[in-house]
Amino acid sequence: MTAATPSLPRLFGFIAGSEGPWRIETIAAVVGEPVPGAARLHVVADPLAQLPVNASWSLRGITSNERYVEREEKTTLAAKQEGLGRPAATRAALIPIRKNAAWWALTQDERRAVFEAESQHIAIGLKYLPAVARRLHHCRDLGPSEPFDFITWFEYAPADSAAFEELVRALRASPEWQYVDREVDIRLALDPA
Ligand code: HEM
Repeated sequence: MTAATPSLPRLFGFIAGSEGPWRIETIAAVVGEPVPGAARLHVVADPLAQLPVNASWSLRGITSNERYVEREEKTTLAAKQEGLGRPAATRAALIPIRKNAAWWALTQDERRAVFEAESQHIAIGLKYLPAVARRLHHCRDLGPSEPFDFITWFEYAPADSAAFEELVRALRASPEWQYVDREVDIRLALDPA
């Protein structure tokens, strides 16, 4: 028998309250209901093991296999992207998103057509690598009462803040976003060490 390989965490919690390394700078409802205000945020792997005390709200999501990326895109992304936790990346965006019933009624090939052929999500995103690092979390498979379908998390340096605004503006103007029925844009900063 061989020893089990330790697996990377896949379930992440975003816990807002009065504590945590990330200072919440703004919370803006882009579409639909906002989330309540809070001062700080913890991002924790395996949130079931470390239940927060005094949380004002929390969100959770799980990383998963890719749904839409094609081989050539995957190779290009892998060559350009950098990971989370870079010391210079002291700004972050936590953007939970829900898509409507019309999106979920589409077939996989129809969704890919909206996502890339019509909206160029990957082509647009690639222009902002490696400045922006990201992690996508899915929520639908966690249960029927999750408030969002996706929790997206991005990290970038202060000097790339304007580029990040340009990126979200471009994606929100794309056909894919016509299916978004709830989106909250939460911006955060790490205090200097
Ligand atoms: C930094 C540049 C970005 C790149 C390179 C990028 C790339 C990608 C890729 C490759 C996927 C598909 C993963 C799969 O195959 O399942 C994806 C999905 C997604 N991205 Fe982005 N993205 C970027 C920025 C953003 C931003 C700024 C947002 C939010 C405002 C966002 C929201 C999403 C969402 C919600 C999905 C899931 C879509 C679905 O499954 O229906 N992305 N992104």
